[in-house]
Amino acid sequence: MGPVSLFFLILATPAPLFTAAQGFGYPTANLSTLWVNHDASLPHSVHYKGGLAARPILLHSQSAHYGQSFATGFFCAPPCDMFYFAVFIVRTDRGARIIDGNPQVVWSANRARPVSENATVELTSGGELVLRDADGSLVWSTGRSGRPVAGMVITNIGNLVLFDLMNATVWQSFDHPTDTLVPGQSLVEGMRLTASTSATNWTENQLYVNVRQDGLYAYVASAPPQLYYMLTSNEEKTGNEITKVTFMNSSLCIFLNSTYPDPNSISWPTTTSSQFIRLESDGHLRMHEWDMAEETWPAVEEVTKPKFGDCGFPTVCGEYGICTGRKCTCPLQDNNSSGYFKPIGDPKDNLGCTPLTPISCKEMQHHQFLTLDEVSYFDVNHSFVNATNQDDCKQACLKNCSCRAVNFRRYFEQTETDGHCFWVTKVFSLQSIKLEPVNYKSTVFIKVQVGPSNSAAPSAHSANNSNLILGTTIPAIITVVLLVVAVTIYLQRRRAYYDKKDEDFNFDQFARMPARFSFQKLRECTQGFNKKLGEGGFGSVYEGKLGEERVAVKRLESARQGKKEFLAEVQTIGSIEHINLVRLIGFCAEKSQRLLVYEYMPRGSLDRWIHYRHNNAPLDWPTRCRIILDIAKGLCYLHEECRQKIAHLDIKPQNILLDEKFNAKVADFGLSKLIDRDQSKVMTVMRGTPGYMAPEWLTSQITEKVDVYSFGVVVMELISGRKNIDNSLPEESSNLINLLRGKARDNQLSDLIDKHSEDMVAHQEQVIQKMKLAMWCLLNDGCQRPSMSTVIKVLDGARSIETAILHRFHDINSAMSVQDTSAYSVKAQASVLSGPR
Ligand SMILES: *[C@@H]1O[C@H](CO)[C@@H](O)[C@H](O)[C@H]1NC(C)=O
Ligand SMILES: *[C@@H]1O[C@H](CO)[C@@H](O)[C@H](O)[C@H]1NC(C)=O
Ligand SMILES: *[C@@H]1O[C@H](CO)[C@@H](O)[C@H](O)[C@H]1NC(C)=O
Ligand SMILES: *[C@@H]1O[C@H](CO)[C@@H](O)[C@H](O)[C@H]1NC(C)=O
Ligand SMILES: *[C@@H]1O[C@H](CO)[C@@H](O)[C@H](O)[C@H]1NC(C)=O
Ligand SMILES: *[C@@H]1O[C@H](CO)[C@@H](O)[C@H](O)[C@H]1NC(C)=O
Ligand SMILES: *[C@@H]1O[C@H](CO)[C@@H](O)[C@H](O)[C@H]1NC(C)=O
Ligand SMILES: *[C@@H]1O[C@H](CO)[C@@H](O)[C@H](O)[C@H]1NC(C)=O
Ligand SMILES: *[C@@H]1O[C@H](CO)[C@@H](O)[C@H](O)[C@H]1NC(C)=O
Ligand SMILES: *[C@@H]1O[C@H](CO)[C@@H](O)[C@H](O)[C@H]1NC(C)=O
Ligand SMILES: *[C@@H]1O[C@H](CO)[C@@H](O)[C@H](O)[C@H]1NC(C)=O
Repeated sequence: MGPVSLFFLILATPAPLFTAAQGFGYPTANLSTLWVNHDASLPHSVHYKGGLAARPILLHSQSAHYGQSFATGFFCAPPCDMFYFAVFIVRTDRGARIIDGNPQVVWSANRARPVSENATVELTSGGELVLRDADGSLVWSTGRSGRPVAGMVITNIGNLVLFDLMNATVWQSFDHPTDTLVPGQSLVEGMRLTASTSATNWTENQLYVNVRQDGLYAYVASAPPQLYYMLTSNEEKTGNEITKVTFMNSSLCIFLNSTYPDPNSISWPTTTSSQFIRLESDGHLRMHEWDMAEETWPAVEEVTKPKFGDCGFPTVCGEYGICTGRKCTCPLQDNNSSGYFKPIGDPKDNLGCTPLTPISCKEMQHHQFLTLDEVSYFDVNHSFVNATNQDDCKQACLKNCSCRAVNFRRYFEQTETDGHCFWVTKVFSLQSIKLEPVNYKSTVFIKVQVGPSNSAAPSAHSANNSNLILGTTIPAIITVVLLVVAVTIYLQRRRAYYDKKDEDFNFDQFARMPARFSFQKLRECTQGFNKKLGEGGFGSVYEGKLGEERVAVKRLESARQGKKEFLAEVQTIGSIEHINLVRLIGFCAEKSQRLLVYEYMPRGSLDRWIHYRHNNAPLDWPTRCRIILDIAKGLCYLHEECRQKIAHLDIKPQNILLDEKFNAKVADFGLSKLIDRDQSKVMTVMRGTPGYMAPEWLTSQITEKVDVYSFGVVVMELISGRKNIDNSLPEESSNLINLLRGKARDNQLSDLIDKHSEDMVAHQEQVIQKMKLAMWCLLNDGCQRPSMSTVIKVLDGARSIETAILHRFHDINSAMSVQDTSAYSVKAQASVLSGPR
């Protein structure tokens, strides 16, 4: 690279702490020597052209020669704010001075924990080599061997050695290799090279090579480790000697039973220091050689040559990535339906793919397979499964949660039931074998989570006093995710699956699909729709049992929708996940039947708890506050955080469900959209429930602010412990919101506080603040109502209520009030105005 430029720095002042021999020949260091990582104290510091810096403390230069030499000391790469204590290859001139030329680190003591300027390394009087950071903290040490140390040396082949009085080795860096071998260096059984995270970050990654009985093995760490390459000897091991793999004669030589002489005692041709073999961050073991003309270290030979070429490396396409030639893709579904994986980071970076829903061992019943034909897996040391046909192979994997994928292979000459099955506990890169000459058919089945991976709450739409229910589901065996089927068909039809097209894939459009059930299955699980839990405008809700778990099954009355539209909506709803939203866990779309399966919510709907029709003890104030906040968060998510804005349009206590701990979740979101999908006149039909509907239903365009209004009503009901419209009360007080208007005008808000609860009365000040928030939400002009995120801020105390605007609430002539309209009262019996019809 560019013209040779000699660039070195010699500081005239020898540093006081530097105790090595004179001049540049400083082959050994004595005990009780301390070096400080500072240019001024290490007079042989070199600043290289590229911004690298080396601060050698020992240089090997037994005979001055122009060429490569080894040094040990501090080393840094740009921007040079972090240093390694390392052994590196430097170039020296005939005067044994270091000159420019691309130094290479071949060993480091602190690869995962670089130190800063003024860090120290000390060869203690006890014979220990100790690295401390500038603040004195211990970073690394050789430890004490128990044998007396006489000094330290860097040998001609790059071995940093602590030796005793007999010149015998007490400690050597060759026993603790990092990611690089230099000529003459050996790996013996038990030693390993571990790759760095990247060229600039030397923290170890999960790829390593080690020496076993008959050779060198390359693995990616997992439990158990997965083998991607091995280099073994043809010889047979006869004795008990330790196997050794030595870098010599420009290759790796395996010594099974011969005792190879100590590398330190051999005199190696000096040219050998112009090579090294490194396990690089991509898992390739490559030999590099000094190119004198270019002054670089190009890779001249690839040591690891796995079966599938470059695709055979475990991280070539990251986890779950599929490698085809030079391209990486994620396991995909067809275009229209949901996918299970999305690329990590920029797809161009090939960082792999991550499942949209992580595998949950608690929800094994929701495990399904994604079928990848003509795909193989690199692991050479297969964990065989005792299964000779595809179905047994998959079944075996379903039974054990540690199994994350199975590879089924059948050699062309074998019969259907004569295949090989092996499983994988962690899925690294997969190999498309479409372009490979193989004599077998190979299919990989990747396990995916199709159901809920975290428990959510129930939903069901119920009318007035619904005791809604919903529970956790257990998907039936027959649950077949549409997409898996679709993809299988797709793959069979179109082998060019992994080709270019997929690159343009918009992963964002993929969401998880809820489990699909047959009508028969749901009829069985509800015992023929026997136990009705509630009834609403969209249909009735029945209790069911899937396996051991209770669920709520909602049978929609309207089947006007086409299956495709229904599926699209179900997918949208199913993909919405929030702790304050009840979760849809499955569905059925068969002929004209449309059913939704929700989880069971043990405490039912909020109305049971605030209208005192069930003899429940009054909720205390903190619980009511929490419920208000939960509802606000659920709505805020629908309005502001989802990919597509969703207005609920029917917020009322019956649609707020409570779990065991009184956490509130909003139910039935998305249903109005689902029902009305094909009706262009959607918003010309009023929908909602009397008492909760915003005034603009009569006049103007409907926005999500109608939910804010309904939220205000619900807050008022929670505070006053009564229904908004209660015809059992005298007429002047039958409408809570009108009553609120009057009390606000007269400044008698405290009259409306639920008298059942002493706790509420005690917190009067706080309660009135919440009432003011409700008033803000109840403004007739939707635009002046706060957004749900603003509501949350107010509830969190992060902002205050715009009290100035509240006069609009009580000053207004209440003629606009929806509750008075005849259009409304006609149907006031039904909980929902316009059904699907
Ligand atoms: C190391 O110690 C030996 C003997 O104690 C001494 O002769 C030699 O000069 C010392 N070397 C250095 C670099 O101080
Ligand atoms: C390192 O130590 C030297 C001398 O004690 C001091 O001048 C310098 O500021 C120190 N550098 C840092 C980065 O602490
Ligand atoms: C150790 O090596 C040095 C230099 O290589 C030599 O001078 C010395 O005699 C050796 N000592 C022993 C005990 O072999
Ligand atoms: C190096 O990589 C490791 C592991 O990926 C990471 O934890 C660490 O933060 C990285 N260090 C730097 C300096 O980037
Ligand atoms: C090592 O094994 C080879 C072949 O197995 C054998 O020929 C050779 O004699 C053995 N060498 C030693 C030192 O045992
Ligand atoms: C390495 O090369 C040297 C000289 O070229 C030769 O004598 C030696 O046998 C070779 N060693 C091996 C293991 O091939
Ligand atoms: C996805 O659909 C678009 C248009 O609907 C089409 O152009 C594209 O080829 C499809 N992609 C795949 C992978 O089928
Ligand atoms: C996918 O969508 C395209 C248009 O978006 C449509 O033509 C095609 O039929 C759909 N495929 C399936 C399997 O639904
Ligand atoms: C192959 O896998 C088995 C079981 O995990 C393990 O015991 C064995 O050591 C592995 N062999 C190699 C060469 O990694
Ligand atoms: C493998 O499975 C077959 C039938 O399921 C059984 O007969 C056989 O004993 C099993 N073999 C092993 C090694 O478990
Ligand atoms: C699942 O597989 C792992 C790894 O092979 C094994 O340790 C574990 O015992 C298996 N669990 C079951 C329930 O079979």
